[in-house]
Amino acid sequence: MVNKKEYTVRFLPFEIEVEVERGASLLDTIRQVNLPMKTSCGGVGTCGECNVKILSGTVSENAAKGLPTDIISQGFVLACQTLIEDNLSVQLPHFDEQTIQSVTDSDYFIQNKDNISGVYEVNPIVRKISLKLDPPSLENNYSDLKRLEIKLDDKLGPMEWTCAFSVLQKLAQIVRQDPDKVDCILSSAGLEKTIIDVVPTSLEKKVLGIACDIGTSTVALHLVDLMDGNILSTASSFNQQIKCGEDVISRINYARKPERQKELHTLIIKTINHLIHKATENADLSYSDIYYGSFSGNTTMIHLLLDLDPRYIREDPYSPTFNLVPIVLAENLDLDMNIEARIFCAPAVGSYVGGDITAGILSTPMLKNAEDISLLIDAGTNGELVIGNKDWMMTCACSAGPAFEGSGIQCGMPASDGAIESVKLNREKQFEFQTINDSKPKGLCGSGLVDLLSELYIHGFIDRSGKFISNNTKGLLKDTEEGLAFLILHGKDTFWGHDLVITENEIASLIRTKGAIFSACQLLIKNIGIDFNNIASVYIAGGFGRHLNVENAIRIGLLPDLDRNKFHYVGNSSLLGALLVLLSDKNREKIESLIDKMTYLELNTEPRYMNEYTGALFLPHTELELFPTVKDMFVKKIQ
Ligand code: FES
Repeated sequence: MVNKKEYTVRFLPFEIEVEVERGASLLDTIRQVNLPMKTSCGGVGTCGECNVKILSGTVSENAAKGLPTDIISQGFVLACQTLIEDNLSVQLPHFDEQTIQSVTDSDYFIQNKDNISGVYEVNPIVRKISLKLDPPSLENNYSDLKRLEIKLDDKLGPMEWTCAFSVLQKLAQIVRQDPDKVDCILSSAGLEKTIIDVVPTSLEKKVLGIACDIGTSTVALHLVDLMDGNILSTASSFNQQIKCGEDVISRINYARKPERQKELHTLIIKTINHLIHKATENADLSYSDIYYGSFSGNTTMIHLLLDLDPRYIREDPYSPTFNLVPIVLAENLDLDMNIEARIFCAPAVGSYVGGDITAGILSTPMLKNAEDISLLIDAGTNGELVIGNKDWMMTCACSAGPAFEGSGIQCGMPASDGAIESVKLNREKQFEFQTINDSKPKGLCGSGLVDLLSELYIHGFIDRSGKFISNNTKGLLKDTEEGLAFLILHGKDTFWGHDLVITENEIASLIRTKGAIFSACQLLIKNIGIDFNNIASVYIAGGFGRHLNVENAIRIGLLPDLDRNKFHYVGNSSLLGALLVLLSDKNREKIESLIDKMTYLELNTEPRYMNEYTGALFLPHTELELFPTVKDMFVKKIQ
C-alpha cells in the first residue's frame, strides 16, 4: 500500500516546503530537506538542542517535553519528539533572522571615516539630473532624445550618452507630460555613459542603491539613498545556500552538477531579494527605485551569484573564472531592482581571496602610507589575510572552518541575541558571562568561545593540547553522547533549559581554527622576511563579534603577541567596503587597481604551511617564545 502524503511542512526562513505522511517525525523531515540541526543526543530528547518554533499548525502531545515553560509558551518544541499531525509552518531558531545582528555598523569605521583607504564621499556612478526641455516645435523639431541630450550637454558638458531601450520606449510620453520638469537618471561607470531612466520631476523619484556583503553563512545589506549617501535601512539573513553545505568547499562540491549550480545561484538570489524586500518595506520605498548594487563576497559566493561554475576554484592550479567582473545588469540575475540597475562585484585576488577582502581593505587605513605595515585578518568561515601597505600587499586564505562563528560546536552560535560574548572566571572559580542584549544565555558566539578557551587554559582546566586536566576538573565534567564535556552553565540558567557544555573534540576544533589563522599569519610574515614586531596595526574583521578580547585571543595563540594598542576590530569590513564603492566611483577604480598590487600566496601548494600549522595546534603554540607575555604570565604564576 502506498502511503499518502497528507501534510505540508514549511520551513522558514528558507521557504522550503515538503509533503509528509501523518505521524512523520519532524526531525527526520528536517534531515530529509538537508537543513542543519544540532542533535547531540541523537534524537532521544535529552540534549534539548533540536528546538524549533511552530508558527502555525498543531503537533503531537509531548513535543515540548523537558523544555522550560516560558519557552513552551512561545511555541517551541523539540523536533525529535514531534510527530506531524497537521500542516506546519516551522521556524528554525538558529536561522531566525530577527535575532541575527550581523555586524553591519562599526565603531572603528564611524570614528575613522577620514583616515581609511577608501574615499568617504557621495559621488556614485548613478545620479539624478533635473532638466528643463524645449518642447518640440516646427523650428526645433529635433527628436525627443536629441533635445534631452542637448540639455544634458548644457548641464554636464559634452558627452556621448547611450540611451537604454527601456527609456526610449517611454521617452515620448514622459517629455510631453511636463517638458519643464524631467528627471534623468544617469549611469556613468568608466566609459559607459547611459541614460537609464527618465521620470517626471513631480514623481520625486528616489534614486537608491544597495551595498551587499554575501557571506558564506550570512548576507547583509544596506539600502542607501544615492542622492545624499544616507543609509535608509539595513537587513541581514542567513545565506539560504547553507542547506547545501556550510562552507565554500562543500558548496563547490554540491555545484558539480549543472542543476545544483543553478540551485545554489537561485538560493543566493532568493536570499538577496528577500533582503531587498525587507529593507525597502522597512523604509517604505519601492525596490524598482534601486538603480545600483555594489556586492562583495568571497570568490565562490560571487561565482554562484553570477551562476558561474565554481569547480576550478578548488582544482589544481586553483584558477577562478574571473578576477575583475564587468558591470552586469540586475535584470540578468533576476534581482528585484530597477530593470536598468547596474551591479558591481568587488574583484577577487585569487580562488580563496575574494572581493570581501579587496572591499574590506578600503574600510581600513592599510593603503594610507608606504611606511607602516598592517595586517588584516578576516576570520569568517574561510580565514582571509592581507599584509602590506600603500605600495605592496601579500594575501592568503586558510580553511579556518566555522567554529568561531558558532558552527560545529554544540554550545556555539552566531553573535546574536542571547549569545554569550564574554566569559570570565571569578575568584570563586565561577564563570561570569555577558550576553548580547543581556538576554538569557542561548550559547556562545566567537568572542565568548575565545574567552572560554583562554579561561579554561589559563586556570588549568585544560592542558596545552586542549585535553581536560583530570585533577582540576573534578565535578566539572559530565558524560554526554559525544564523550566527557566541561559544564559551562547549568540548564536552569540557560534560555533553552539545557546545559551548555564543551567537549574535548570541540576544544580541538577551536584550536584547529585558531591554529589555521595564526599559521597563515606566520607564513605571510616569513614570506616577506619580517618579524611580527614590524607590524604597525592589526585589523580584525569578521564573525568573532564586536567584543573580541584581544588579550584572550593572544593567550590562546590566535593573534600574535604584540602591543595590544595595535589591534583594531573593524566589524564587517566587506560590507563597509561595498558601501564605499556604492557611494563613490573613485573607490571602484581604487579597488580595481588594488588587485595588481596584491601577491596571492596559495597555501594549498605551500609545503611550509603544514609545519607552521602543526606548531600552532597547541595553546598558545609549541614555541612559547612566540608569545612572551603568555610565557611571563605562567612564570609569575609558578613563582
Ligand atoms: S536531538 Fe532532540 S533533544 Fe537532542
